[in-house]
Amino acid sequence: MSKYRNDERPEHPNDDASAAWETHAEWWLGEVATGLRPEYADQMIPLAVDLLAGCRSVVDVGAGEGQVARALAETGHDAVAVEPAAPLVQLADRHPGVCGVRAAANDLPLGNGSVDGAVASLVFEHILDFQGALDEIARVLRPGGRFVWFLNHPLTQAPGSGWVEDYISDEHGWRIGTYAVASHEWEMLDNGVELPFFHRPLSQYLNGLISASLELETMLEPTPPESFFEAGGNPIHRVIPRLMVLVARRPAQ
Ligand SMILES: C[S@@+](CC[C@H](N)C(=O)[O-])C[C@H]1O[C@@H](n2cnc3c(N)ncnc32)[C@H](O)[C@@H]1O
Repeated sequence: MSKYRNDERPEHPNDDASAAWETHAEWWLGEVATGLRPEYADQMIPLAVDLLAGCRSVVDVGAGEGQVARALAETGHDAVAVEPAAPLVQLADRHPGVCGVRAAANDLPLGNGSVDGAVASLVFEHILDFQGALDEIARVLRPGGRFVWFLNHPLTQAPGSGWVEDYISDEHGWRIGTYAVASHEWEMLDNGVELPFFHRPLSQYLNGLISASLELETMLEPTPPESFFEAGGNPIHRVIPRLMVLVARRPAQ
């Protein structure tokens, strides 16, 4: 996957990414959705299930076609899949035990304190109003409820980051791009598939949790599963993480 900045593109990606995601729903379903990526099957989904153990009702924010929500439903949770892109939320809703609702993260159609747990998996990178989305998650969690937040690692996946090889000096390694500067770009994920992508440094994410009055419990930077490397993933990721997981709790009153 390559990222690029298209300075000629006139419009700023707005918070209703559903239009872009609806346009490219077929691409997502063919490339990344249920069962297609080892990192989901062998790491992220089991982690989400594990970290949300004990939460009976769970909302999956920006659920896509519901691969995380489905796994939660299959392990005994009552799962609500909130997703703005119509073709995706329709698929999520078809799974037994999952209630799909078409909405955006900064306007969750759930009552105050109505869920035990929330998960957002690789979604906030596509959301402009990220503080509004975090505030909504804090609002719908019951006191003591838990939020599991998967993000592309903001340091190692910052725009301009990637593998570099210098054949002259025989040096190679992982370049960190423009980490400290929040930015937006259209990310080209495939031929003709461009989606809005927002980069934020880690401090923004952590300060966002603080502003939403959510308390950080754990931060994980897991090495990808073996299946990632077996499928040809770059071995540098044994020492350079791709994923960051923040686990936070709404304080019990
Ligand atoms: C990379 S996909 C991840 C889907 C799913 N969470 C998963 O891990 O399989 C990003 C998802 O975020 C959704 N999304 C984009 N903007 C959103 C917003 N403002 N609120 C909620 N979801 C949004 C997209 O429609 C898309 O389904």
